[in-house]
Amino acid sequence: MSTIANQPISLLPEVQAFLKRPKRLFINNAFVEPASGKTMPTEDPATGGVLDHIPAGDATDIDAAVRAARAAFEGEWRAMSPTQRAACMFKLADLIEQHAEEFAEIESLDVGKTITSARAIDVPFTVFLWRYYAGWATKLYGKTLDLSLPPGGAFFSYVRREPVGVVGCIIPWNYPLAQVSFKIAPALAAGCTTVVKPAEQASLANLRLAELIAEAGFPPGVVNIVTGLGESAGAALAEHPDVNKISFTGSTAVGKLIMQAAGRSNLKRLTLELGGKSPTIIFDDADMAEAIPTAAAAIFNNSGQVCNAGSRLYVQRRSFDRVLEGVVEYAQKLRIGIGLDESTQLGPLVTSEQKRRVLSYMDQGLRSGAKLVIGGPDVLQDVPGNFVAPSIFTNTTPEMSIVREEIFGPVLVAMPFDDPDEIAPVANQTHYGLAATIFTRDISRAHTLAARLNAGAVWINCFGVFDPNLPFGGFKQSGMGREFSQEGVEAFTELKAVTVKL
Ligand code: NAI
Ligand code: MG
Repeated sequence: MSTIANQPISLLPEVQAFLKRPKRLFINNAFVEPASGKTMPTEDPATGGVLDHIPAGDATDIDAAVRAARAAFEGEWRAMSPTQRAACMFKLADLIEQHAEEFAEIESLDVGKTITSARAIDVPFTVFLWRYYAGWATKLYGKTLDLSLPPGGAFFSYVRREPVGVVGCIIPWNYPLAQVSFKIAPALAAGCTTVVKPAEQASLANLRLAELIAEAGFPPGVVNIVTGLGESAGAALAEHPDVNKISFTGSTAVGKLIMQAAGRSNLKRLTLELGGKSPTIIFDDADMAEAIPTAAAAIFNNSGQVCNAGSRLYVQRRSFDRVLEGVVEYAQKLRIGIGLDESTQLGPLVTSEQKRRVLSYMDQGLRSGAKLVIGGPDVLQDVPGNFVAPSIFTNTTPEMSIVREEIFGPVLVAMPFDDPDEIAPVANQTHYGLAATIFTRDISRAHTLAARLNAGAVWINCFGVFDPNLPFGGFKQSGMGREFSQEGVEAFTELKAVTVKL
């Protein structure tokens, strides 16, 4: 576990060239300086040093971007047929695919994630999603209906499904290319235009995407990208009176701020995809050869920086020691190193701030009496970079912050349970409700429990299976609304009922 792989890495010439180019905001299909002229550093997760500088956009730039998006919405984009809009989206999917390795390297550099997972997950899922939603552009339609009221009247009504307008997309740093696509692809399919505020911790893939958007033939103003801090650029977008909807992924705390901003300004429509503290539940009868590595991967993939990470493990008592032993062994074998090294299985966290947050949760866990089985806040702290060891705690109580709060790092709490009928309320004992995972061979138990869990996604004998056609989102404080699927594109529309007297 303690190996820090440090092979010399050579970046693609295209990535080297991209890193050398000065970064600009993308407004109206032009690359422009922020009004303030200011830039800010973005951290290299592998070293803790500076990777690049990005524009520090603020309210002035957001306003310019919203104006461009509004003009495109009222103008050229709206005038295009669904097929023409789809053609731009298919073209962008092709371009992302052609530059797949470049994006994988940029994501690995900027986020710290392993190049193998960026290649296997971030980039191909993104390409697939763009094609999926390009298909929806030509498949949205309204309804017609006969009225019963007023009695005796002869009326004909139809319901149009129209784009909601200008959409603000606020992006997190854990899957930057994929997350921005989750928002703009369905928005564009619905006929909306967009202003993107990437995460300040990892904006580079969004800025590279801007270059391909310009190349794909989208009219000016359809996608605008303004990098900057959440408190300035992000807040300005959430407050902006001419933005019709915000689609946000990030922390529950900021999700609440965005809801308040929408309430204060113009009652923007909201889709919020927020945090989680998702349970993995393993019964005695589970196929342990599947359950153990899957439960471990559920928390250690992407170094635990995943909204649906399986961060609470509940195991039926008879199997507890065996499962714990298996998950510990999995953690011990993980090769830790810089993301770009192909042999790395666990990369550094995105920023030193995120590392501090994760370490502080572990300190709180230790202080409140939890037992550390492996890892912990002291391991790997003598090496540069934002490394945190895979860590597992037992002997926890439900009140502990490590059990209640989203840590967003490779930190697992493991607990035994006795009564199978009592596990649903225990698993539901959280203000989150994003995902839950069940391992059992008893199909009746699996489906009964799936129905009782308060979570937007339930995986049975598997974990983290995503498809653009499967709605994803949270119960309770894990958010509102759904991304992906028909629901995900309809979330960018308004219904209009038109009635004609015959
Ligand atoms: P965050 O929620 O602060 O940031 C997410 C996005 O919101 C970023 O683009 C940020 O610039 C923007 N933002 C921040 N403050 C804003 C405001 N007042 N108005 C508008 N936009 C604003 O998340 P952060 O600070 O990066 O991470 C903190 C914790 O949030 C993590 O430890 C994790 O628990 C959770 N998180 C959850 C994610 C998920 O996928 N559900 C993704 C990222 C973070
Ligand atoms: Mg924040």
